[in-house]
Amino acid sequence: MIFRATVIALGLSLWASAGTAQTLSDAELGLRIMANRQQGNCVTCHQVTVLRDAQGIDGAAGKQGDFGPSLDGVANRYSLAQLRQWVMDARKMNPNTLMPPFGTLEGTTHASPPRPMLSLEEINKVTAALATLR
Ligand code: HEC
Repeated sequence: MIFRATVIALGLSLWASAGTAQTLSDAELGLRIMANRQQGNCVTCHQVTVLRDAQGIDGAAGKQGDFGPSLDGVANRYSLAQLRQWVMDARKMNPNTLMPPFGTLEGTTHASPPRPMLSLEEINKVTAALATLR
């Protein structure tokens, strides 16, 4: 009986997570990556009004940093390729930037774990999210 309940619970949670993945667009998933402290954590340095007001997104609510410029309206300032480049390696946009590179380990010596902060798939989702900030 307990075994059967566990199987049903597991099935339900798999079904629920599959359902979430299907209903959220790349841009919505990208916004979640931007708010998540273990992923993009962009809100540590950037104001993003849609995230500040978001409900139910891990890490979204509350204080946002202002070390970097607000990302509101950023899609009006850059092309899709430029937005992606900012996230991939901001040093290609401004050699003196203090924004960390999210898609490469180039220039790092002690990265731990030794992998870029975001995968290419995650960077594509974040780029899709930035493209909605008009
Ligand atoms: C440690 C702070 C920091 C973090 C974390 C950070 N950025 Fe930045 N970002 C900056 C700074 C500072 C700038 C300003 C450009 C410069 O000084 O070179 C910037 C600039 C930008 C720009 C260009 C904005 C404009 O209007 O010119 C974009 C787009 C951007 N960041 C996106 C992101 C995204 C997306 C993330 C998360 C994946 C992120 N940033 C994480 C500090 C940060």
